[in-house]
Amino acid sequence: MSHNSKKLLRVEGLVKKFGGFKALNGVNIDVCQEQIVGLAGPNGSGKTTLINVISGVYRPDGGSIEFDGGSIYKFPSHKLVHKGINRTFQVPKPLSALTVWENVRLAAVYGSSEGNPLETIRDALEFVELDNLKDSISAGLTFAQQKLLGLATALATKPKLLLVDEIAAGLSHQELNWIAETLLRIRATGVAMIVVEHHLGFIDSLTSDVVVMNAGANLFRGSIQEAAQHEEVVEVFLGR
Ligand SMILES: Nc1ncnc2c1ncn2[C@@H]1O[C@H](COP(=O)(O)OP(=O)(O)O)[C@@H](O)[C@H]1O
Ligand SMILES: [Mg+2]
Repeated sequence: MSHNSKKLLRVEGLVKKFGGFKALNGVNIDVCQEQIVGLAGPNGSGKTTLINVISGVYRPDGGSIEFDGGSIYKFPSHKLVHKGINRTFQVPKPLSALTVWENVRLAAVYGSSEGNPLETIRDALEFVELDNLKDSISAGLTFAQQKLLGLATALATKPKLLLVDEIAAGLSHQELNWIAETLLRIRATGVAMIVVEHHLGFIDSLTSDVVVMNAGANLFRGSIQEAAQHEEVVEVFLGR
């Protein structure tokens, strides 16, 4: 795949402890500008924890994180949003009493200092094709629409790096294709991504660059085709 080879994110030796338990035990991952990196691994392998640490929800306990040429180690999430890192949640978290438009407006106002917020909101909603539902109360959205709203709120903060956590889980085949297409359109606007997904098929539809984690550590980095031939990768995916 074609992408600018300039490094946008470089994570080395990342450690995150919960009490005495190391959920991340020296993880490395890097992402180039406009690249999609798939992140796979069994449940509990540390994928969401990695997203939470990179996005500043959790503070790391060791290692280094560089973004756009400088250290962002231990930066809080609001600062990271302004630097150009945002994420979606495995379980979508819209403010359910607010409308779709109001949710995206909050993100646009809070997360992005550039441009006209009204245009930012409109563009984000058009991008995920939720503009026709802009006045609907978020609580009434389907699960798939809530995931799209999560993408729209992230987009409204104008990220350079978008961290997408298990967006395909619980969606129909048709919804899944639509989400994959939407992520590819987002990438085409110059946004790099880490896409966390348990199932390699979804990752395969987005990128050939995949990292596989197991037990808080890197197990593999390479193409999906190589992953499918890799004995330990096959073992952690099938041997559970
Ligand atoms: N806030 C937390 N407190 C304690 N343990 C946690 C917390 N978050 C995650 N963990 C543990 O860290 C490990 C990795 O979890 P997680 O990152 O959610 O895995 P994945 O997203 O790959 O399924 C699991 O053993 C999980 O129980
Ligand atoms: Mg997870």
